[in-house]
Amino acid sequence: MALEIKIAIDGPAAAGKSTIAKITAEKLGYTYIDTGAMYRALTHKALVHNINTRNGQELEKLLEETEIVLRPSINGQAVIVDGKDVTEDIRSQLVTASVSSVATHMGVRQLMVDKQRILAIGAGVVMDGRDIGTAVLPDAELKIFMTASVEERAMRRHIENEKRGFTTSLEQLKAEIAERDRADSEREVSPLRQAEDAVLIDTTSMSITDVAEKISELAEKRMNL
Ligand code: CDP
Ligand code: CDP
Repeated sequence: MALEIKIAIDGPAAAGKSTIAKITAEKLGYTYIDTGAMYRALTHKALVHNINTRNGQELEKLLEETEIVLRPSINGQAVIVDGKDVTEDIRSQLVTASVSSVATHMGVRQLMVDKQRILAIGAGVVMDGRDIGTAVLPDAELKIFMTASVEERAMRRHIENEKRGFTTSLEQLKAEIAERDRADSEREVSPLRQAEDAVLIDTTSMSITDVAEKISELAEKRMNL
């Protein structure tokens, strides 16, 4: 009999995690949880409140007082912080440049992991981030580590930005992505790394449809184990 399973998707920036996670969750009727949006939501609130992103204690206090709600929407997922829709705001360049600093603090990560585990209780779930297979859902039935060359990832973000009406320099995007990957991989607490039991998917030359199909096949197999 097919069981509802937990699917963890980790990997570096712009590898295609959230696009594929959304498609997979929709196909299976599962809950999709974008954990990066939660770190972005806290970062956005910290910037609004002028809190230094290097001050772990202040950030932890702020997070304790913050309500983050992830709500399904036409575009995948709306992010509501203390009752206000910040879905667009959390994608700003300022938030992107500061989020990895916020995500280094152990106290912040512990609170986030607790929230994320609660969101995953009960039903089938597709969760994407950096530490899902290694720390948040170590017992997930399917773990994917999704990657692509930094050139391809920068190009994808470049195209995405153009569609949203922003002009960005490809070289600058590449440098920013490489720097965020470095910060996420080198931090002490739950660094970005492939879980031992994760399936590696290099999406550099794969279309969104190819990747989604590959993950559906893997999910089917796990469900029927
Ligand atoms: O979508 P993009 O790849 O740009 O990043 P994101 O998934 O929105 O995550 C933003 C940042 O949050 C990452 O660069 C990490 O610093 C942090 N993050 C994390 O530390 N752990 C997670 N589970 C998810 C995100
Ligand atoms: O969540 P993550 O940062 O890993 O990446 P994403 O936001 O899902 O994908 C970044 C961009 O790459 C999006 O505009 C996707 O449409 C695009 N993409 C692609 O062109 N080919 C893929 N195989 C996967 C994503």
